[in-house]
Amino acid sequence: MNRKTYLLLAILCLFMFSLQAVCFAAEEPAQLPNIKILATGGTIAGSGATSTTTVGYTAAVAPVDALINNVPELKKVANVSGEQISQIASENMTNEVWLKLAKRVNQLLTQDDVDGIVITHGTDTLEETAYFLNLVVKSDKPVVVVGSMRPPTAMSADGMLNLYRATILAGSKDAVGKGVMVMLNDTIHSGRDVTKTITDRVDTFRAPEIGPLGFFTGDKAVFYRAPLRKHTTATEFDITKLSDLPRVDIVYHYANNTGVMIEAVTKAGAKGIVHAGTGNGSIGKVEYPAIEAAQKQGVVIVRSARVGNGIVARNGEADDDKYNFVAGDNLNPQKARILLMLALTKTSNPQDIQRMFWEY
Ligand code: SIN
Repeated sequence: MNRKTYLLLAILCLFMFSLQAVCFAAEEPAQLPNIKILATGGTIAGSGATSTTTVGYTAAVAPVDALINNVPELKKVANVSGEQISQIASENMTNEVWLKLAKRVNQLLTQDDVDGIVITHGTDTLEETAYFLNLVVKSDKPVVVVGSMRPPTAMSADGMLNLYRATILAGSKDAVGKGVMVMLNDTIHSGRDVTKTITDRVDTFRAPEIGPLGFFTGDKAVFYRAPLRKHTTATEFDITKLSDLPRVDIVYHYANNTGVMIEAVTKAGAKGIVHAGTGNGSIGKVEYPAIEAAQKQGVVIVRSARVGNGIVARNGEADDDKYNFVAGDNLNPQKARILLMLALTKTSNPQDIQRMFWEY
């Protein structure tokens, strides 16, 4: 190699080296998503007397900052900040808290500096809150409802890992547009389909017959399907101006029923009744007089089933066309109640409400 070629090569190397240095300097460090954690209470914020107390503990005592500080790993996967919406055991959930929560979620999700939301919640009514939000949140950004079956003070507490993974999920691009999700026990469910199925174990959340949306493997959320029923931005429900929701009660059917519960809730002012019927949503003969009296006062009747699986067939076990009933599809009674409440904010026409039950 002569002197001139050597010099040219040296200049070329220097140029390549500087180019590489400039490229590396320009490369941004990976940006963490901004996730808001809204706390409502529950076992995930609970406290037990001993490390083996997994029943008989006190739910809803730790504030949101304590939940966040208890999982320092959160800072590695997201920029997190918390807000306390309520501090209750979820059997005490109310319309007031739901509306406050939903309005705050909608407000936060309009902000460019919020990429997703995690809601910590008691497991008892978690499925109801998740379905309510699934119908009223107006954004494609991920919203994840999370809880735990064991308080943080217990051996093998599940809340910390659930919160960590819920936060990853809320910041995941794959979770955008999937509606409101529920994340416990490494499993991702749709807020519409999920229900609590076991009183006291960590694998309690299931979507009977339909199955989960996906799972966690390590720190990665893997999806296998997406919800087909309309949700979030595709629904007709708007809670912006609402300060309460129409009263809807659930009436359970059982052998030797008399219809007295239907009379009672009608008298108490119900605008809708979800009838948790036997089998395929059957209504007892003795209940019909009370039901027809309720309808004369404008009460809308949805036929659901106490069975927990399957579709309530229209005009199957009852003549829905003749009696102006709404068939509840495969929603369990507590979820049918959520949809009926929201439906009644738009109409009391049973045909319109039936359309909503097939769509949502
Ligand atoms: C609750 O629902 O608040 C208590 C039970 C639980 O969170 O597991």
